Amino acid sequence: MKKAIAQYDKLYAAKNILWNPTPGRMVVEALSHFKTPGLCLDMGCGDGKNMFFLEKRGWVVEGIDKSILAIEGAKRRFKENNLIPRGNLIVKDITDYEYPLDHFNLVVCYGLYHCLTKNEINHIHYKMIASLKSGGLIAFCMINNNLRMPANHGTTKTFLRSENYVIELVNEQLEILKVFTGEIEEEHLPVIGKHKHSITWCLFKKK
Ligand SMILES: C[S@@+](CC[C@H](N)C(=O)[O-])C[C@H]1O[C@@H](n2cnc3c(N)ncnc32)[C@H](O)[C@@H]1O
Repeated sequence: MKKAIAQYDKLYAAKNILWNPTPGRMVVEALSHFKTPGLCLDMGCGDGKNMFFLEKRGWVVEGIDKSILAIEGAKRRFKENNLIPRGNLIVKDITDYEYPLDHFNLVVCYGLYHCLTKNEINHIHYKMIASLKSGGLIAFCMINNNLRMPANHGTTKTFLRSENYVIELVNEQLEILKVFTGEIEEEHLPVIGKHKHSITWCLFKKK
């Protein structure tokens, strides 16, 4: 049975727009590999910081998030910035999404995998790879277990894994172009003040 409430809903409910507009560093880096904009799947798009960045640069992005609050926030972000997205913003659990074959040039998977169980990742990971065109990229990050999730973080169940977990995500079709781990400091007021997460960032390429 699917969880009715997304892990970040308490944080989305507390803000008009939760995530600041700075796009993910792997998303920015991914774009330097493409001469022209293409099709992107943004898995767990949240309130659309990466989708907005890409759409503004001519990409057509399918943004999927199971949180209605996140998708409403993404729509607000586009509206407040006077941009009509060419792609779709869809409220859906990513495990129920029908991945088109050989379709996307880029997949953004930012902060999603630490929200998913092992079974959920197994269920979607290879479908997601199959939905990428050859030469396509995956801009990826997840919170790892080098630091604990603060008890008062406002999120429901998360699954923090080792910084080396990304190696398990590689198969014969994928190579890692870049991987590194570091810390970020965030605050999600009024729920939680300044705190740190340890993050693993990765840029994968489909051969
Ligand atoms: C850490 S936030 C990151 C949001 C966005 N990717 C960003 O970088 O700003 C994780 C997002 O994943 C979404 N999410 C978690 N589990 C999901 C699932 N099973 N299907 C779709 N979205 C999910 C949450 O609702 C949340 O918006």
